[in-house]
Amino acid sequence: DWTPAAFVHETVEKIKAQVGDKRVVMALSGGVDSTVAAELIHKAIGKNLFCIFVDNGLLRKDEFETVLESYKHMGLNVKGINAKDLFYGKLKDVSDPEQKRKIIGGLFIDVFQQEATHLTDISFLGQGTIYPDVIESVSVNGPSVTIKSHHNVGGLPEKMNMQLVEPLRFLFKDEVRRVGREIGISDIFLGRHPFPGPGLAIRILGAITPEKVNMLQEADHVYVEGLKEAGLYDKVWQAGTILLPVQSVGVMGDERTYEFTVALRAVTSVDGMTADWAHLPYEFLAKMSNDIINKVKGINRVVYDISSKPPATIEWE
Ligand code: XMP
Repeated sequence: DWTPAAFVHETVEKIKAQVGDKRVVMALSGGVDSTVAAELIHKAIGKNLFCIFVDNGLLRKDEFETVLESYKHMGLNVKGINAKDLFYGKLKDVSDPEQKRKIIGGLFIDVFQQEATHLTDISFLGQGTIYPDVIESVSVNGPSVTIKSHHNVGGLPEKMNMQLVEPLRFLFKDEVRRVGREIGISDIFLGRHPFPGPGLAIRILGAITPEKVNMLQEADHVYVEGLKEAGLYDKVWQAGTILLPVQSVGVMGDERTYEFTVALRAVTSVDGMTADWAHLPYEFLAKMSNDIINKVKGINRVVYDISSKPPATIEWE
């Protein structure tokens, strides 16, 4: 019978045997998978694990600082890299979703490689790959039609030419969470909704500007905190806000406004492959609409997405 405790014990021994007294470098994303994988490797080899956490400027509000602090608190040897301007620069005027993904995936590899070359004697690359990623990357690269290309899995290994350490390769998401709980990973990581690698870039329809990122971070913050306060966060599989490339007329006091629209998205799902729009209470939606319009400058209209997957997808891009 599979138990988290036995898995942790076996996996730590395996990593020790595989890595010995060599060094491992690894990119952290702030998500469950890379965090649990890093902590397992850390348990096995301690300070010989070097972690890199990149701020691409497309994370949620305050997320980079908060998560970096948590990593340090866990005792991980982690370096935070501020690469915001690099990402914003290369994404300027780019509005095609797949082009955005390509640029973000490519830049991430560049930044990571650049940092990794400063580290000496690195022999292994740690990764938080889980079983569904393995299957998905096969179909993403296969002959079937690519709906959205994910860049989390591909890319790095080939470019780095290093041996992989992938402690979660045969686990499903719920098992990863159980392992995380077993080794004392904070609920900040374990209870977190999935968040796409390209981050807010694919939730800003059209071209990205730092101002739009700010606006969306604020709206997203109001929404996510609102879901938590209302006890709804854990009831949905994923939630977020989308900034539409549309301005519309509104009225504030006795002034005419001409500002942006934000769409709220919340879905229930088991694995992200199919999803239903979440039937959030009207009162809650009304409060979110008021709070967002009152608190976030530049937004004068809020809509709720009532599309399921298929035929829609969870993300709008
Ligand atoms: P879709 O929009 O395809 O999303 O219904 C399904 C799940 O995948 C996430 N997603 C991504 N994750 N890189 C990622 O790491 C991506 O490019 C990407 N696109 C979508 C999405 O957030 C949802 O959880």
